[in-house]
Amino acid sequence: MMEELSVLTNMELLELRLRGLYEKAGYSKYRMGRFEEYGLYGANRRFLASEQVISFTDLDGRLLALKPDVTLSIAKNARIDGDGGCARYYYCENVYRPSQESHTFREISQMGLECIGSVDRAECAKVLRLALATLEMCGGEAVLEISHMGFVGGLLDALALPEGKRSAVIDCIRDKNSHELRKKALDAGMDEGGADTLCALTGLCGDAGEVLEKAEAMVRCDAMGEAVEALKALRGELSEGAKLKIDLSLVNDIDYYNGLVFRGYVAGAPRAVLQGGRYDPLAQQFTPGVGAIGFALYMDELERLETVEAASAEKTMLNVALPKGRLGDKVYALLSAAGYGCGTDYNDSRRLVVENPEAGIRYFLVKPSDVAIYVEHGAADIGIVGKDILAEAKADVYELLDTGLGKCRMCVAARNDFVDEPGRSLRVATKFVNIAKAYYASQGRDIDIIKLNGSIELAPLLGLSDVIVDIVETGTTLKENDLKVVTEFMPISARFIANKASYQFKKAEIDAITLCLSEVKEK
Ligand code: PRP
Repeated sequence: MMEELSVLTNMELLELRLRGLYEKAGYSKYRMGRFEEYGLYGANRRFLASEQVISFTDLDGRLLALKPDVTLSIAKNARIDGDGGCARYYYCENVYRPSQESHTFREISQMGLECIGSVDRAECAKVLRLALATLEMCGGEAVLEISHMGFVGGLLDALALPEGKRSAVIDCIRDKNSHELRKKALDAGMDEGGADTLCALTGLCGDAGEVLEKAEAMVRCDAMGEAVEALKALRGELSEGAKLKIDLSLVNDIDYYNGLVFRGYVAGAPRAVLQGGRYDPLAQQFTPGVGAIGFALYMDELERLETVEAASAEKTMLNVALPKGRLGDKVYALLSAAGYGCGTDYNDSRRLVVENPEAGIRYFLVKPSDVAIYVEHGAADIGIVGKDILAEAKADVYELLDTGLGKCRMCVAARNDFVDEPGRSLRVATKFVNIAKAYYASQGRDIDIIKLNGSIELAPLLGLSDVIVDIVETGTTLKENDLKVVTEFMPISARFIANKASYQFKKAEIDAITLCLSEVKEK
């Protein structure tokens, strides 16, 4: 038998071992077809990772979907035994979701488990133990970070943050972007004390004991107190302290998760490989009064891990994506002053990688518009990137610092004689398609986008567009082309960003360089 097992790939072996783990814990296999009634997803869009679902009409006229998710189907079909019982299922399925990067749908291989019924604290601890054991089986160093949605939700309620401002504030918390968080809090009418408390949230991550102590001191309402108590109790029940971290800035989709949330990372994988939490509102769509908790393991991310590990044995070096050009030179000067220089001027050669092993630093010289991609995909741990590029790429990274360098602003500009006609759809030329769309959506204005790659100012001059959305620094380009600023809507400067998985395993190094940069910046 052992001989036969040797023909299995690492992923197949992992699947087999995880099945054994879950079966032993009392979970039974849930099988679903490739297609499901579209109605199930249509009626529960708010619980899906993306609202885009591949649908088609079957030969009998029924509208079917290529399944985007497994949890909904399990929540719908779970057979919960009597009062006080739980239904426990695990699955190993492919789901189909749109991919931001490839601009198409991807087939994603997932394993996971769901526990639905009378989910108490002990049941949550069991699921977390299974999540920890799952990460352990993936091999290598692993971290499970946990949080409780009641803490952030309670704090936003206690600070009376208006409903309409929440989503932008939550985005900043999720990205550990305290510089913009402060501004958004103050703009929303919060006082300095409230803004300080909110910003402190982004630093509430690390060793469970320390974080919970700080969190306790921040409690302002029952929901926050209950969240801290729940986390404390869980920590007491889980002995694997070293791998368990608390990060209270971890906020998942508010509509989906309502209590405990957690995320797992393994060293070498550029993003979280496991994600889960408590999702009572979804389960209650099908069975009133029940509780539910579960997690999914992204097998695709682990498959890539094999090649990443083979390619990079280094662990302690901090890999920096440095934008080539003026901004990169300024940032390099800042970092050199802080002790992170490489002794040579990289502009003297054509080398794209320069390093200083003693300082534990390695720079990749990349095109400014590619920095966020290198960091999001884990090819670099950290990077320096203009806010314009970061916002346009919608990169899922931590934004740790505003370096204050390369200041300019994102503007709508037009010919000097431009007069807007609000009833008409506006033709907008820009390099920043996502930023322009988001801005005009917030204004409720219909637009036609014309995507250009440079010399945007020509578009209104030649009648190609009514306005442009572009960065303005000195204003010289606009002035010399008889254009004017119509609206300024986004301040831009270079931001210091970090890959979310790197932050788990190189936190001390990343915190140290962030501190250096912020100190040098102050001078
Ligand atoms: C940027 C921007 C403006 C100009 C603004 O162009 O697109 O054209 O700088 O700077 P100013 O306000 O100081 O005149 P960039 O130099 O990046 O070239 P591009 O036209 O190829 O985008």
